[in-house]
Amino acid sequence: MMTRVLYPGSFDPIHNGHVEIISTAARLFDEVIVAAVDNPQKSGAFFALEERRELIDQCFEDRQNVSSVLHTGLVVELARTNACDFIIKGLRAVSDFESELQMAQLNHELSGIDTVFLPSTSSSSFIASKYVREIARLGGDVTSMVPVPVWRRMHAMMVRSD
Ligand code: PNS
Repeated sequence: MMTRVLYPGSFDPIHNGHVEIISTAARLFDEVIVAAVDNPQKSGAFFALEERRELIDQCFEDRQNVSSVLHTGLVVELARTNACDFIIKGLRAVSDFESELQMAQLNHELSGIDTVFLPSTSSSSFIASKYVREIARLGGDVTSMVPVPVWRRMHAMMVRSD
């Protein structure tokens, strides 16, 4: 039987920690749908949702079983309409666990869909999109934290806004 999973997130932008989780999920499951989702709790987006999806696509154009979508509603609705068996979430530290466990339980309550947690490696557990955005905005170097298409796009934006 084919197992399809949904990996939702803000991905503003996708960084090396996300790439690692997606690569692991793509080895564990038959199909991975990466969803750039609007997070109602966050403001101050760097990239528009469609740009975030485009960047995810560019990072995984060689992976046959990874695809991307964008979404503005409930994650469980997207999981249902795409017939996903599980939701995937990455955990960097214990601090991520508290809110992720609550979301996993709420999503299960809403839909019956279970969440599978994948741990990040210690070498990428310090990377977070909000700091990638901050470092880039302040002129720092993010090339070791994000995939090539992302830093190229960020660099081009920063040069333009100088
Ligand atoms: O990368 P993030 O910001 O940690 O991702 C959070 C995200 C987008 C997965 C979360 O905000 C979310 O699920 N948003 C969609 C709305 C929704 O389904 N809310 C109910 C969560 S229990």
